[in-house]
Amino acid sequence: MGRLIVISNRVAVPNVDQAQAGGLAVALNDALSTYGGLWLGWSGQTVEGATTLPHIVTKGNVAYALLDLTPEDYAEYYNGFANRTLWPLFHYRLDMAEFDRVNYQTYLKVNTFFATALLSLLQPDDIIWVHDYHLIPLGQELRRLGVTQRIGLFMHTPFPALEIMLTLPSHARLVQSMSAYDVVGFQTINDLRSFLDYVTQEANGKVETDGTVFMGKRTVRAAVFAIGLDAESMATEAVHSFHTPSVQRLQRTLHGRALLIGVDRLDYSKGIPERLRAYARFLERHPSFRKKVTFLQISPVSRGDVPEYRRLRRTLEQEAGRINGQYGEPDWVPVRYVSKGYKRATLAGYYRTASVAVITPLRDGMNLVAKEFVVAQNADSPGVLVLSRFAGAAHELDAALLVNPYDVDDVADAMARALSMPLEERIARWNQMHKIITTNTLSHWCENFLTVLRGDESVVSA
Ligand code: UDP
Ligand code: G6P
Repeated sequence: MGRLIVISNRVAVPNVDQAQAGGLAVALNDALSTYGGLWLGWSGQTVEGATTLPHIVTKGNVAYALLDLTPEDYAEYYNGFANRTLWPLFHYRLDMAEFDRVNYQTYLKVNTFFATALLSLLQPDDIIWVHDYHLIPLGQELRRLGVTQRIGLFMHTPFPALEIMLTLPSHARLVQSMSAYDVVGFQTINDLRSFLDYVTQEANGKVETDGTVFMGKRTVRAAVFAIGLDAESMATEAVHSFHTPSVQRLQRTLHGRALLIGVDRLDYSKGIPERLRAYARFLERHPSFRKKVTFLQISPVSRGDVPEYRRLRRTLEQEAGRINGQYGEPDWVPVRYVSKGYKRATLAGYYRTASVAVITPLRDGMNLVAKEFVVAQNADSPGVLVLSRFAGAAHELDAALLVNPYDVDDVADAMARALSMPLEERIARWNQMHKIITTNTLSHWCENFLTVLRGDESVVSA
């Protein structure tokens, strides 16, 4: 069997990026260590005159091929087109999307740069798996350079509805470039539907019932592959971490209060200010819970050179301060807000300590934190998951308390309901979610995608 080549913008070399905040990096490290192979992507460094010659770092059975970007590429490709155009657009934030032709040209240039760098490392029987919105045109660039190996693309983010996609000036070229792949995978049926809508209504393509898509001269398999977790190791880590000094310290400082927890990169798509406002509404409308609960929001800084992210940080600090000022007492701080990242093992212990997780993105491809929270629970007395209906995870975890994150009252009431939920109901809901997460694991996700990519089997799910 040929090597697996993974390409993504973000690469997390184990032991280097200790607190890896970001589902893609977490998932791919777990997956690649199972198969072995090569992971090519950005080194995280900017260097004047960066070349297509990657630095190679080998860890176990995985070789990491790391490319530097120039400061201009970082500004125009990563901060610019990827994170100020595609990210907001794919998360339905038209109000935040910036359209800039220079950024788009640099995005295409960096995709060519990645493709050229990969070329010299490729072997004839490799299969290539490209990830996410940073590298959508990469498949087309590889084809242009003569690559004939099978190439797949998996989108970790949502794929936006047709009318949203049409606002992107370069939508036609971007979506058309997806026809260079043999397989295109999405997190949910909604994302797949949006893609198929585009293909049939805008790209003059044809779609068959099994997910075969005809675009121009090419045939592409499009399907849903909901990303999962290495559930077993997360559960083991949670049991272990629960008794570690840092988690015990958190438990001691709660003084018996129930813990509500939110863990998200500091990103406007995660709905964090809206969530804190909902918590304030909950304290206002359910005064009996005052002094009996603590909300811990962990939000490591993300994409800190993008102005919208910097503004969000200030908004959050103000919101947390406002709630503590309004509802706090000398012996009670309602919100604890921390803007640094933690290792997943530590988070696992925090999840197990919490009575409720409040995971309320305004839009999310999947949201692995929601799944991690569930598997980290104690089966005899599990915590309750309050989950946005707009997270990809809600498609599988419909036994959570599903909420509309834009509706402050809805989220506030769900917090109260979660905290008052009888043990029997908690266990029943948890069992349903736990079964799904432990069935559709990360290795299933990988195996399903790679089976279709290798062309061994027709589409698994569509
Ligand atoms: N994460 C982490 N440390 C942190 C915060 C988050 O390791 O301080 C991890 C978290 O455990 C999860 C991932 O980052 O595995 C976040 O993935 P998710 O799908 O929830 O959101 P994303 O950041 O990819 O949008
Ligand atoms: C999301 C995206 C990933 C990205 C991660 C962290 O999970 O889908 O592609 O790697 O966020 O963001 P960053 O910009 O730090 O890579």
